[in-house]
Amino acid sequence: MSEVLGVGIIGCGNISKTYFELAPLFKGIEVRYCADLYADVARARASEYGVMGGTVDMLLASNDVDIVVNLTVPDAHWPVSRDILSAGKHVYSEKPLVLSLEDGKAMQALAAEKGLRVGSAPDTFLGGAHQAARAAIDSGELGKITSGTCQVMSHGMEAWHPNPDFFFKPGGGPVLDMGPYYIANLINLIGPVKRVAALTSMATPTRTISSQPRAGEEITVETPTTIQALLEFQSGATITFIASWDVCAHRHHPMELYGTEGSIYVPDPNFFGGSVTVVDQTGEAKELDVAAHPLGQCNQGDAENRFANYRTAGLADMAQAIREGRDFRCSFDRAVHAVDVMMSILKSGETGSFVEIVTTCTRPEAFGADEAGALLK
Ligand SMILES: NC(=O)c1ccc[n+]([C@@H]2O[C@H](COP(=O)([O-])OP(=O)(O)OC[C@H]3O[C@@H](n4cnc5c(N)ncnc54)[C@H](O)[C@@H]3O)[C@@H](O)[C@H]2O)c1
Repeated sequence: MSEVLGVGIIGCGNISKTYFELAPLFKGIEVRYCADLYADVARARASEYGVMGGTVDMLLASNDVDIVVNLTVPDAHWPVSRDILSAGKHVYSEKPLVLSLEDGKAMQALAAEKGLRVGSAPDTFLGGAHQAARAAIDSGELGKITSGTCQVMSHGMEAWHPNPDFFFKPGGGPVLDMGPYYIANLINLIGPVKRVAALTSMATPTRTISSQPRAGEEITVETPTTIQALLEFQSGATITFIASWDVCAHRHHPMELYGTEGSIYVPDPNFFGGSVTVVDQTGEAKELDVAAHPLGQCNQGDAENRFANYRTAGLADMAQAIREGRDFRCSFDRAVHAVDVMMSILKSGETGSFVEIVTTCTRPEAFGADEAGALLK
C-alpha cells in the first residue's frame, strides 16, 4: 500500500477550510479532490487549494482517492457515507457519525462487507491538553474518578454561522453538535457509559439569524436547545452534563473530574489545547505542561497564536492504522457509542426515564507526545 493515502472531501462549507489547511501538517494523507451538492462551490474550494473539484459522483469515481472525508450537514452524513462505502472507499465523517443506532448497524455491515474502515471526528481529544489529562488520570495520582461535571453553554449559533438552520433541526441541537467533543473526551478519560437520564427544553420556538448573509431570517426550532443530563459510566463514575444554546453568560469550567485523591480541571474539548490543572487533597494546584505535547502547541489565533488546532490528526491516525492494520483512536465503535449516548439523552428527555446504553467500546490508546510528533511532518 502507498505510504500516502489520497483524501477526498465531500461538503465544501464552513469547516472544509480547516481540513484543507491542517491536513498538510500530517504525514500519510494528501487531499486530492473535493465535491459538494453544488459543484461550483466545490470548484471554487478546489481552485483555492490546488486540488481537483467537481460532483460527488466524479470524486467517488476517482482512483486518486482512498479515504473520503464527509463534511456534509448531519442529516446527510449517513446517506453520503453509504455512497462512499458503496464506491469502495474508506470514510472519515464529521460528527455526529449517524443519527440512529439502526443507521450505525447498517453502516457497520456495509463497511464489513466491503472490507473498509470508518472513522469519525471529533479528534480534539488527541490534543495536548486532553492527553495531559489522560496521562494524569492514568498515572493514578487522582485516585479513582468517581464524579464530575461538564458544561457547554452559549447563546447559540445563529450569530456566527452563515447557514445556521441545521443546528436547530433534528440531528442538530447542542447535544449532537457539541456533545460529541465532551462524550469522546469522557470516553478517552474514563471509558464507556452505562446509562443516562435527562431533562430537555427549548427557550424559544424560533431563532432569528443575526449573521450575514441571511440576517433577519427566522429558523423554526425543532430540537431541544437546553439539555441537563446525568451519565453513569461503566467505571461507576457519575457525571453531570449540561449543554445549552439558551444561556447568555456563565462561570462554569468546561470539564471537572473528581477523583478519590484529587480533582482535575480540563479545558473545552472543542479545542486541542488550553490549561489543565490538577488539585491534590491538600488543595495544592499544579498546572500541567500541555505544550510538552506537539498537539498542545499553539498554532492559530491572532499574532500571538493563542489556539492549538490540529483537526485532521484523527484522520492521519486512521490512515496510518489502515496501512499498519491496527485500531485507530477515532474509531467507528467509539463514535457509535457516543451517538448511542447522545440519542439516549434526547430519548430520556422525551420519556422521563433512565435509558440503558446498549453499545460499548474500549478507551482509545493514549496518544503520547512521541507518537503524535512522529505523525507530524
Ligand atoms: N463549522 C464548524 O465550525 C464545524 C466544526 C466542527 C464540525 N463541524 C461539522 O461539520 C459538518 C459540516 O459543517 P459546516 O459548518 O461546514 O456546514 P456547512 O453548511 O457550512 O457546509 C456543509 C456543506 O455540505 C454540502 N452538502 C450538504 N449535503 C450534501 C450532500 N448530500 N452531498 C454533498 N454535499 C452536501 C453543502 O452544500 C455545504 O456546502 C457538520 O456535521 C458539523 O457538525 C462543523
